Amino acid sequence: MQLFLDTTDVAVLKDLAATGLVDGVTTNPTLIAKSGRPMLQVIAEICAAIEGPVSAEVAAMDTAGMLDEGRRLAAIAPNVVVKVPLTRDGLIATREFAHEGIATNVTLCFSAAQALLAAKAGASYISPFIGRLDDVGADGMDLIVEIRAIYDNYGFDTEILAASIRSPAHVTTAALAGANCATIPPDVFNALFKHPLTERGLDQFMADWAKTGQSIL
Ligand code: E4P
Repeated sequence: MQLFLDTTDVAVLKDLAATGLVDGVTTNPTLIAKSGRPMLQVIAEICAAIEGPVSAEVAAMDTAGMLDEGRRLAAIAPNVVVKVPLTRDGLIATREFAHEGIATNVTLCFSAAQALLAAKAGASYISPFIGRLDDVGADGMDLIVEIRAIYDNYGFDTEILAASIRSPAHVTTAALAGANCATIPPDVFNALFKHPLTERGLDQFMADWAKTGQSIL
């Protein structure tokens, strides 16, 4: 499973990328706003910091505007993936981007029907928003299961990118459901390393090791 970082914080990205465990990055307009920095500059810095795919979202609502913005974003670096909203205009733009060889991440997916249309439009990635579905009383993970089944039934190669991840359990459940990737906020990514029993066990081992008075080197 590919693990992406959902961030516009370049310092945080570099810190986590140093582990070798970050396969890509996603951003969205909210994260750009939080950064307080110019979008094109932030995306260029992220693309320089990591080799994997970097999703950069268009702001236009109409197909022509999305195509203009997407081409501008794609020109920043070869690893840019143009993020397009799951609307009628967005899917028309997605289809054109596919013809032009520009990778796309179709975002704000909340139903299997939407995901089917995105795959037919030639999306490189589909982003079902797990956490936001959970927030309204649905089970976001059911959507991953449905999309996986539909894509497998028809051999679509659109990758399922589990988004709106809120916990380590979301990551593992998405992996079990067959998502190709998950995009994870930095705090949740850091939590993936941890388990209380690991910490307790290590404390015990180190205490016992100290009693031996030994040194390995
Ligand atoms: C990533 O592509 C999405 O923009 C992100 O996962 C949304 O997460 P949120 O629902 O926590 O804002």
